[in-house]
Amino acid sequence: MKKIYLFAVIISGVCLGGCFFSNNNRISENNRVESRPTNVTDILSQEFDYMERMAVVLKNAVECLTKGDDRVTRETFTEIVEVIRDFSDKRHQEKEDAVLFPFLKDVHGNENKDLLGQLLMEHVSLRDKIRDLSVSLNGMYLGKKAKKKIAKNANTYINYTMKHINMEKKKLFPWINEMLKSDEQAMLVKKFEDMKKAEVDSGMYEKYTIMLQSLEGQVRGCANY
Ligand SMILES: [Fe+2]
Ligand SMILES: [Fe+2]
Repeated sequence: MKKIYLFAVIISGVCLGGCFFSNNNRISENNRVESRPTNVTDILSQEFDYMERMAVVLKNAVECLTKGDDRVTRETFTEIVEVIRDFSDKRHQEKEDAVLFPFLKDVHGNENKDLLGQLLMEHVSLRDKIRDLSVSLNGMYLGKKAKKKIAKNANTYINYTMKHINMEKKKLFPWINEMLKSDEQAMLVKKFEDMKKAEVDSGMYEKYTIMLQSLEGQVRGCANY
C-alpha cells in the first residue's frame, strides 16, 4: 500500500513538473483542467492554496507533538519549515515584493501606500516567525517546555499567515482588480508566469509538491484522537 502511495505521489509530481505550462490550459494537482489566469490575483490566490495547505500540515504536526505521537520527528518539522520558507512563502512573497508592489508604487504612486507598507512589513514578520520556529526545533527532544515553545511558535506563524492572507484577499485583491488596466494585468501576469516557469524548470516545483504531499500523508490523523 505504501509503495502504491509513493508511486502515485511521484507520478503526480513528475506530471506537475512536465505538464504545467505545456499549453493554454494546465492540469491542476487534482487533475482538473484549469484555464490560464487572466489577472494577477488568480495566480496569487492559487498560491494561497499551497500556503493554507502548509498551515494545515503544521497545525496537524503540532497536534501530534503535543500528544506525544512519535510519527512526527524533528526531521518532519525541519521539512515543514523548508517547504514553507523556500517554497510556500518565498515564491509568493517574491512576486509581491519584487514585482507587484514596486509596480503599484511606481505607476500608482501613493494610492493605498499604507496598505502596501503594512503588507511588506508583514512579510518581514512572517520570515522572522518561521525563523523563530526553526530555531526552537533545536529543543525538540529537551522536554515539555521546549516542545511547548515549538507549538507556540508554530501557532503564532499559522495565525499570522492566515491573517495576512485574509488581509490580501479582502483589501489588496479587490483594489488591484478594480484599479489595474487590462494591459497592466497582462504584463504582470506574464512576469508572474515567467517566474513560475523558472520554478518548474529548476525542479523546485516538483520537489516541493512531492514534499508537501508526503508531509500531508505523514501528519494526517494527528488531529483526530
Ligand atoms: Fe500574498
Ligand atoms: Fe503578501
